[in-house]
Amino acid sequence: MENNISLFRKVMGNYPSGVTVVTTINENNVPLGLTVNSFSSVSLEPLLILWSIDKKVSSYDVFMKTGKFAINILSSKQADICALFARKGNDRFQNCQWESSSLNLPIISGAASVLQCRTYKTVEAGDHTIFIGEVIDIHHENIAPLLYHKREMGEIPKSFYSSK
Ligand SMILES: Cc1cc2nc3c(=O)[nH]c(=O)nc-3n(C[C@H](O)[C@H](O)[C@H](O)COP(=O)(O)O)c2cc1C
Repeated sequence: MENNISLFRKVMGNYPSGVTVVTTINENNVPLGLTVNSFSSVSLEPLLILWSIDKKVSSYDVFMKTGKFAINILSSKQADICALFARKGNDRFQNCQWESSSLNLPIISGAASVLQCRTYKTVEAGDHTIFIGEVIDIHHENIAPLLYHKREMGEIPKSFYSSK
């Protein structure tokens, strides 16, 4: 019989999501970030979102300290950015286009939407920490998001929409 962890992995792998890159900056102004699909909306008043980070991620301590981060929601053309920010041992920001925002947060060029956030609360949860962020700046482009399902990435097919 399958153990609960592998069954849980199967269940979560069959749950489709979008893909984000969460970025921040350390005390020496070095940009840091990782691919994240645990992102979710939380509250309208105030505007809150959440995501969770594995405590083993190399930028974990910086995220715990910095007090701010940007959620870059990837567009359907950014599967390479998803892979870049999930792969170890490469200079992520040398290999993509990005710019610094007025809040001094790294913004990935071509993202479908960007939410810049102040850390509202962190909640320890097993081997992860949940970050709840208060949204302080919103940028939205009306372009297709990147879809992630069963380790595959792609664009939502036109046939999915009722207007077809
Ligand atoms: C589609 C996808 C979604 C991911 N979502 C998360 C997530 O929500 N939280 C997390 O901690 N890691 C997530 N990861 C794994 C991290 O991106 C990866 O472990 C991270 O880049 C490691 O960073 P480091 O090399 O700086 O330690 C995800 C990876 C992929 C491919």
